[in-house]
Amino acid sequence: MTLEEKLGQLQQLDGTAEGEYRPEHVELARRGRLGSTLNVRGARRTTELQRVAVEESRLRIPLLFAFDVIHGYRTVFPVPLAEAASWDVRLVERNAAIAAAEAASAGVRWTFAPMVDIARDPRWGRIVEGSGEDPLLGAEMARARVRGFQGPDYGLPGKVVACAKHWVAYGAAEGGRDYNTTDVSERTLREIYFPPFKAAVDAGVGTFMSAFNDLNGLPTSANPHTLTDVLRQEWKFDGIVVSDYTSVQELVAHGLAADGREAAALALRAGVDMEMVSRLFNEHGPALVSQGRIPMAAIDEAVRRVLRIKFRLGLFDNPYASEAEENETLLRAEHLAAARQAAARSVVLLKNQAGVLPLSRSLKSIAVIGPLADDAQSLLGSWSGDGRKEEVVTLLAGLRARNIAGLRIHYAKGCEVDGESRAGFDEAVRAAKKASFVILAVGESAAMSGEAASRSSLDLPGRQLELVQAVHATGKPYAVVLMNGRPLSINWLATNAPAILETWFGGTQAGHAIADVLFGDVNPGGKLPVTFPRSVGQVPLYYNHKPTGRPPEAGNKYTSKYLDVPWTPLYPFGYGLSYTEFTLSNLRLSAARVPPGGQVTARVDVQNTGRLPGDEVVQLYIRRAAVSVTRPVKELRGFERITLQPGEMRTVEFALGPEQLGFYDHAMKFVVEPGVVDIMAGSSSETTLSTRLEIVPDNQ
Ligand code: NOJ
Repeated sequence: MTLEEKLGQLQQLDGTAEGEYRPEHVELARRGRLGSTLNVRGARRTTELQRVAVEESRLRIPLLFAFDVIHGYRTVFPVPLAEAASWDVRLVERNAAIAAAEAASAGVRWTFAPMVDIARDPRWGRIVEGSGEDPLLGAEMARARVRGFQGPDYGLPGKVVACAKHWVAYGAAEGGRDYNTTDVSERTLREIYFPPFKAAVDAGVGTFMSAFNDLNGLPTSANPHTLTDVLRQEWKFDGIVVSDYTSVQELVAHGLAADGREAAALALRAGVDMEMVSRLFNEHGPALVSQGRIPMAAIDEAVRRVLRIKFRLGLFDNPYASEAEENETLLRAEHLAAARQAAARSVVLLKNQAGVLPLSRSLKSIAVIGPLADDAQSLLGSWSGDGRKEEVVTLLAGLRARNIAGLRIHYAKGCEVDGESRAGFDEAVRAAKKASFVILAVGESAAMSGEAASRSSLDLPGRQLELVQAVHATGKPYAVVLMNGRPLSINWLATNAPAILETWFGGTQAGHAIADVLFGDVNPGGKLPVTFPRSVGQVPLYYNHKPTGRPPEAGNKYTSKYLDVPWTPLYPFGYGLSYTEFTLSNLRLSAARVPPGGQVTARVDVQNTGRLPGDEVVQLYIRRAAVSVTRPVKELRGFERITLQPGEMRTVEFALGPEQLGFYDHAMKFVVEPGVVDIMAGSSSETTLSTRLEIVPDNQ
């Protein structure tokens, strides 16, 4: 390969939002100056461009078509935060496998997913793309998604290579403002931000994306510590690192590189292999090599990594997609059924006063009110793949489609998600008065979360709360159906609304799924993957915080509190109700004492003590105190979602070994220190059961 051909493999360029390639791509592919594209999709278009690379270029190296297949390709699943709320790793793996099959049929063999950034700040709009605030839940979701996308081997038909992003700590943006600076200790990196990435590596993820943020003074797209020391040397990752969109060029705006040439040198030297959209590797590569600033061996290594992924994908043998297969694959009935099930299993029941839900089938009339009740676009959420809003079932459509005999449905939009007008309130109130039950769909539009969509308020936008209050004043019973991409400070609703269902953005089949839950065909069993604060001023507020020297104490001023808002969350991490009831009891250990290298089993009995079948997510937490460093008040160490019939009892088991019991000491060495471990179990992070384990040195 000539140096130009090598550099060509390190270049990724953007197609159009509609999925077309650009005339320039044809030219560059023919000359061997293009390795990959993003956004170009569809069997016909990818095959057209691929033919140029494979049949007309000197070396016949196939292109690698990438796309953000984040929660579905054409069949859109619930947004990732919602999928995390299902706490159902098998479901998440299956969704990713369906997304992979659809994407691969359209010629896309590389997805920029999973997004595994831990987010502790709900102002940050990209919280919707991840799995919330907890490193263990995040790691389990990361593993499940990588397995789903890649299968046992991403070279198999219907599989795509995954990309763990954004490496790293991108979610720690100061002020929750997207792209902003991050300053994170090595401890917090290793304990909080790294685990989902490490899980992705352990699951065999083929690629990583370096992020936009400055991390401790070195932007993550030029950070040798994270890109090389940790990723390559410690974790032995042998795949590709692609930069984020123009993040190599942005090293200049960060104030690190003097110009484009230096930006290219810094990124290459730190360990970025492929450059997305900016073209500095190609522009400056030849000069950098001839001046000896970048060794040819470093370019060769990056090219080797790119070609290795292309070989492993089987692109040299099977470079083309087939339109017939694409038509046969997209939106298959079983994909839609899976999307419906996933959306229903992602729903979190936040409140259900006096059992207003599920709705009775003998209802004569309902009013469906709110700006999100019939908003198809928003249900697709941020990153809608190739999803089409015409194919989305809205809540209104889902309720109508049930065709319940004798049920009249009155619909009124009421107001916009983010508008000032109350002009629609009268119509909404009239609809409510005509009905025997009201369903109010409020929240955020999809555009209010995702990339470049941070908010400084967590309140319901616009006039929506007033709309709810106007309906409330009619005295009709009602349920609030929330659609949103982040935790919201819904204090008034929490106090006053009879019922609240958190449905996030549920994807293509959301309307059917929410109707399934409202009418009790599906008993909600999701749990919050992130804390809901009472006020944006409490942020960051997460369950696995440190104790402080003066833990908050009611009535004691000089403890860690606010004057104007409680210190507690509105809804804690791991929280969610059901139409039935569960009783957890008898938390016990297989041994009261273990040596540091040993393993014990924690068991807890769970019984469905209500009248309906339902799901519970049993959660196990630990706490360590009086060891060589301070530890969080609680850390999730295991969870399992189970289904129980009324009266049924099951014992759930959790393994606790060095991985669960250890931590990083003051020298950042992972250790299992002797001492007492509190073991806690519950239906949320507000645990109800506890016991103690003693770790005893081997010689005692
Ligand atoms: C920028 C985003 O940060 C990243 O998540 C995405 O994969 C790329 N754009 C490509 O669309």
